Amino acid sequence: MRINTVSLKDLDEIFKLESNTFKKDAFSKNSILNLIVNNTFFFKLINDDGSNEIVGFIIVIQDREGRVNLINLLISKQYQNKGYGSHLLKYTLNKIKEMNNIEVIVLNVNSKNKVAIWLYQKFGFQIGQKIENYYRQQKSAYLMILKI
Ligand SMILES: CC(C)(COP(=O)(O)OP(=O)(O)OC[C@H]1O[C@@H](n2cnc3c(N)ncnc32)[C@H](O)[C@@H]1OP(=O)(O)O)[C@@H](O)C(=O)NCCC(=O)NCCS
Repeated sequence: MRINTVSLKDLDEIFKLESNTFKKDAFSKNSILNLIVNNTFFFKLINDDGSNEIVGFIIVIQDREGRVNLINLLISKQYQNKGYGSHLLKYTLNKIKEMNNIEVIVLNVNSKNKVAIWLYQKFGFQIGQKIENYYRQQKSAYLMILKI
């Protein structure tokens, strides 16, 4: 597996992964397009077996207050639970740490998403406030924070 920056030619493949995984809560294709054009980091994990299939991706942006937001991390279903999510997150956290003046990284995660919460906690993120009705169908989210 290798990590590379996402480009516009990846839009369809990324959107397919996004919509298959998050269904109605997925970013629209247009949002993904905007994120490819405007991001702090948008990395893809690519299969090295010759297929060049995108196995997963991670998106980081800075909000208006200058806080670093991890807004999406995804590993394709058949590749989950093999350490790839940890690998992509670790790589990205190291890139963020190389930036100047970054003190916190924040993210929102579905409060029922045990694997993701576990993964983020493994890297030092702490659970902050619960945000009710963050997703559709009254699903709540946790704000998670990593101080660096
Ligand atoms: C969350 C996600 C990115 C994790 O990627 P991954 O490649 O499967 O993660 P890893 O294999 O690196 O690590 C998973 C960890 O969770 C653990 N885990 C797996 N299933 C679990 C379960 N049902 N309950 C608790 N922990 C579990 C694994 O043991 C592993 O822990 P370890 O590193 O201590 O061994 C992936 O599951 C995913 O894409 N999910 C759908 C999209 C999503 O929800 N993204 C998060 C958005 S905020």
